[in-house]
Amino acid sequence: MARDDEQMNCLMVIFGATGDLTSRKLVPALYRLEAKDLLPDGFQVVAAARKEYSKEQYLAHIRDKYEAYNQESLEENIWNKLADRWHYLPLEFGNTDDYLKLKQKLEGLEKDLGNNGNRLFYLAVSPQYFETIARQMKAHDITKREQGWQRLMIEKPFGRDAASARELNQSLRQVFEEEELFRIDHYLVKEMVQNLMTLRAANQIFEPTWNADHIDHVQIISTEKDGVGTRGGYYDQAGALRDMVQNHMLQMLALSAMEMPDFLTAEKLRAEKVKILKSLVPFHSAEMEKRLVLGQYEGYREEPRVAAASSTETFAALKVFLKHPRWKGVPFYLKTGKGLAEKNARIVIQYKLPIGSWSLAETHQELIPNRLTIQIQPREGVVLSFNTKKPGTEDILMPVKMDFCQNCLAVTNTPEAYEKLLMEAMKGERASFTHWDEVEASWTWIEGVISWAESHPEALRVYQMGSEGPEGVERLMSPNEGREWL
Ligand code: BG6
Repeated sequence: MARDDEQMNCLMVIFGATGDLTSRKLVPALYRLEAKDLLPDGFQVVAAARKEYSKEQYLAHIRDKYEAYNQESLEENIWNKLADRWHYLPLEFGNTDDYLKLKQKLEGLEKDLGNNGNRLFYLAVSPQYFETIARQMKAHDITKREQGWQRLMIEKPFGRDAASARELNQSLRQVFEEEELFRIDHYLVKEMVQNLMTLRAANQIFEPTWNADHIDHVQIISTEKDGVGTRGGYYDQAGALRDMVQNHMLQMLALSAMEMPDFLTAEKLRAEKVKILKSLVPFHSAEMEKRLVLGQYEGYREEPRVAAASSTETFAALKVFLKHPRWKGVPFYLKTGKGLAEKNARIVIQYKLPIGSWSLAETHQELIPNRLTIQIQPREGVVLSFNTKKPGTEDILMPVKMDFCQNCLAVTNTPEAYEKLLMEAMKGERASFTHWDEVEASWTWIEGVISWAESHPEALRVYQMGSEGPEGVERLMSPNEGREWL
């Protein structure tokens, strides 16, 4: 990440500046960017939220939160430098007068700073306010001005099904062009998710075998130890299929399965990912038993703001196929859930056994299939498993691993997801953000799965907190084909 003042200089407006997301993600990310001297000189932030704070009260609020959420102690000179960039504006999302004040504030700052008019808007608010805020900004000429760029960073969920996502998109498109919309999927900036593309593009050993001739199946896994915590109100309306599968899991699937473009530009990536998302084979109700396992952790219904009789899934495992020549017959297994044994995300590419492995049958030895594991978190690395000969006079097989651990290297200082997201949005780089075509294709496929799940609450299985998930998850794998969850 390099700094480029000319491109990046802007005023950033955060709506929802007293909320959790701002304190947990945006303030720490901006602090780290400040510490690395990556923020352009003319960069300033207008924090807007409903509370009637003065600037000092607001800064004290975010500082308290920073100290509560972060283990690293805060360096006074860096904090002061960052604090100098902030302004606070009390704003009710539906109040017309408040947007007039925002407009004046922005124009005043741009004049004082001799700023080029670039504006980065960030919606750190509940989705119900997305459209109101965009409409108000347009009505007050805060957007669509003559000079400078305007960009909108927007958090998920982007709709709750295809129709509501389309509606939201249409409203936003009245105010912003597609190129000005930066829809966040923070998995796209995880180091190893990005590294997946580099591994494929920069190594001749993987890409030629990256297809149904050589690959048996792919597992995409993101599990969490924690339950829903304080987010029960939102999560109970969403569930694992909307919260994780529609976005992060399908994005990882698309990146794993797509044709590698010759250049990794946002347009080319998007085009390839969309082809994969559109090739997802729909689930038919008759085969749900073999395709989908849903679970809810014990005690979920007692979580704050969760319905007492909730049938929301906190776990989902799916067996997915693609209508795509490269992946004919290759299952992609997705597994995600809360309240599980560990926090872990990885992509495992399991190869077929080599032709001729029959010759080992005489010695009753078992080959392990080659596996390429991209470890996304908490460990970041790449592990390749293969068979070798055990040293000695006999021909005995020995499974071994080549193991590269990226975040074990003392020199790595992996930037946090939000640092990268902010930098890329300021630079106008869109490759790590989702295009509308991807969002639409994901919703279109998954809404069939969701509507089946919603009309079959009896399919939900309870699992113990801290376990591997509900019983029955193994049935998606075919043990007779040598497959198991890894
Ligand atoms: C978010 C979901 O998008 O991703 C959360 O809304 C989930 O429910 C989180 O906990 C997981 O992200 P990460 O980076 O911790 O794997």
